[in-house]
Amino acid sequence: MSQRLVNVSPAAPESRESAVPAAVPPGVKPAIVTLTAVCKTYDNGSKALMDGNLTIRQGDFLFITGPSGSGKSTLLKLLYGEQPVSAGQIVVDGVDLTGLRGDRLAHLRRRIGIVFQDYKLIPRRTVAENVAFVLWAQGFSRSEIERRLPPALKLVGLPHKANCFPEELSGGEQQRVSLARAIVNTPPLLLADEPTGNLDADNSWQVIKILQKLNAIGITIIVTTHDEQLIQRSGQPVVQLCNGRLYVPTTYNPISP
Ligand SMILES: Nc1ncnc2c1ncn2[C@@H]1O[C@H](COP(=O)(O)OP(=O)(O)OP(=O)(O)O)[C@@H](O)[C@H]1O
Ligand SMILES: [Mg+2]
Repeated sequence: MSQRLVNVSPAAPESRESAVPAAVPPGVKPAIVTLTAVCKTYDNGSKALMDGNLTIRQGDFLFITGPSGSGKSTLLKLLYGEQPVSAGQIVVDGVDLTGLRGDRLAHLRRRIGIVFQDYKLIPRRTVAENVAFVLWAQGFSRSEIERRLPPALKLVGLPHKANCFPEELSGGEQQRVSLARAIVNTPPLLLADEPTGNLDADNSWQVIKILQKLNAIGITIIVTTHDEQLIQRSGQPVVQLCNGRLYVPTTYNPISP
């Protein structure tokens, strides 16, 4: 990687309730994710993230890379509120995650799409049902579900597989169903943990192209991957994790939040 990498110094924390976003200079997009001096130590003492500082702006497409065990999945789990931070502060889409639980956490999660490496599709449900399930669980009306389903399946190139079961699909197709499921409720933020980890080069590139399409309609995309070739081919910015430390290129975070 040719970009110079720095461990960005801590930025001033936003307000804890954070309903009021920090002032943003003209021409700079507002932040959608802010990490300030974030540490994560698991109960067994494993230090997965140390003094992490990062600002991701609305509409960005960012790769997070690093060796196995460097903390990539942990970082996404912290952003999704699946794991609490041990120290520091995370603000996602204007919401301070500190102590966030129950309905307030569930409400935030509706605005975050998630894609997993192992797809996590419901085996005895069709493609259409797997995607619709998210909307149904969030209380969307039947007519709204019927309105949203076709464009989501079209975006991932799978309208013709709507009535298939996951086991009738290839790995690449299953991953694309999981993408449709993650974005069918049009979240402003999409987190994808190694979405190409089980795919060959062609299928991996298809997934990245779909993510780029989603990014073009304004969704902020954060993707973890080991695949250096994919990162270089995509031309998107990349943040590195190494032994729990975040290294952010100066070209990506030129100003403090
Ligand atoms: N639930 C957990 N309990 C204790 N330690 C954990 C837990 N989850 C992860 N860890 C540890 O935290 C560190 C970071 O793990 P993480 O899963 O975030 O890495 P990763 O970069 O996603 O790795 P990979 O590329 O293999 O998916 C590792 O040392 C791991 O052993
Ligand atoms: Mg991982």
